[in-house]
Amino acid sequence: MSAGILGVGYYVPETVVTNFDLEKGLSTSDEWIRSRTGIGERRIAADTQATSDLAIIAARAALESANVKSEDVDLIVVATCTPDYTMPATAALVQSALKARRAAAFDLNSVCSGFSYALEVVTHMVNSGVYKHALVIGADVMSRTVDWTDRSTAILFGDGAGAAVVGNVAEGGILGSVLGANGDGAMLLTTPSCYTHLSLSKDPGFAGGTKMYMNGKEVYRFAVQVMGEVALQALERVGLTSKDVDLFIPHQANIRIIESAARRLDMPMSKVFVNLDRYGNTSAASIPIALAEAVQQGRVKRGDLIVTVGFGSGLTWGANVIRWTAG
Ligand code: ACO
Repeated sequence: MSAGILGVGYYVPETVVTNFDLEKGLSTSDEWIRSRTGIGERRIAADTQATSDLAIIAARAALESANVKSEDVDLIVVATCTPDYTMPATAALVQSALKARRAAAFDLNSVCSGFSYALEVVTHMVNSGVYKHALVIGADVMSRTVDWTDRSTAILFGDGAGAAVVGNVAEGGILGSVLGANGDGAMLLTTPSCYTHLSLSKDPGFAGGTKMYMNGKEVYRFAVQVMGEVALQALERVGLTSKDVDLFIPHQANIRIIESAARRLDMPMSKVFVNLDRYGNTSAASIPIALAEAVQQGRVKRGDLIVTVGFGSGLTWGANVIRWTAG
């Protein structure tokens, strides 16, 4: 027995903000955004929704698809850089809403690599034999940290949540991962503070520190270099190559970064899952939303080999190699 994914789910808020909507308030255009990033629209959380609200809906969907009851969950990890509060952990709010009374709950922050990191941590916890059913959630409300007057960042991000139930599978499952970080680049992409709960996100006392700064060019250079490389390292760790991969699920930040990773992996774009045209960059939610949509669309079959790669602020990166075992 080893740790594998038993089911997945996702949630994106109802409100759609198109590039044309952004044209009204920013000096930008649909043509510029599409050609430089591949993004066409993004979802934005309602004023009343904090990160936990999105996470809870995605978690319920994942539990249903895994056919696991919330009372049988013994671990909840929420990967997020936009928690409801500094304390308590967003995972504790999810635990309460799900009535997952037996579950330990904590948050993990490695920004857009958060789901990759969380999946690796949870894999070892499940493989230890102590935890049987873990909920791994990537959830972010980036719209509350984006500076809506800054055209170089406002166009990139969206809100959402994706979740996976991890438990024991007879064969296959999460075969291996590679994680990495380079804190020398910490200030290339930073938000001093951000809380998505309404009472805090509207508090003028927090206003000064809540807005994101990004050096887009340097982050782009880093991403292009790391994305294909970390996928190859993770495959090598488990004795496989990119030729064995059925579906590549990259962090959905920029289509040009994704295409360059596909070239590095010598992989046709038909084997690469892309949904950033509809959601933009949803940070830690990006990979689990893509994974859940790929399953929903029938792009993943039992026995398929999937590689996911995340990268982001930190700087951080991570890749997971998964032999798909869910139905
Ligand atoms: N609309 C129109 N023009 C724009 C916009 C915009 N939205 N944004 C920038 N420009 C202008 C610039 O001002 C510049 O004008 P100038 O030549 O007159 O100076 C010109 O367009 C080119 O700007 P660049 O910054 O060179 O554009 P580039 O092609 O590098 O694209 C982008 C910018 C899309 C931000 C790119 O650098 C990128 O994707 N970087 C990586 C970002 C990323 O992935 N971040 C997420 C990491 S994950 C996480 O942890 C959150």
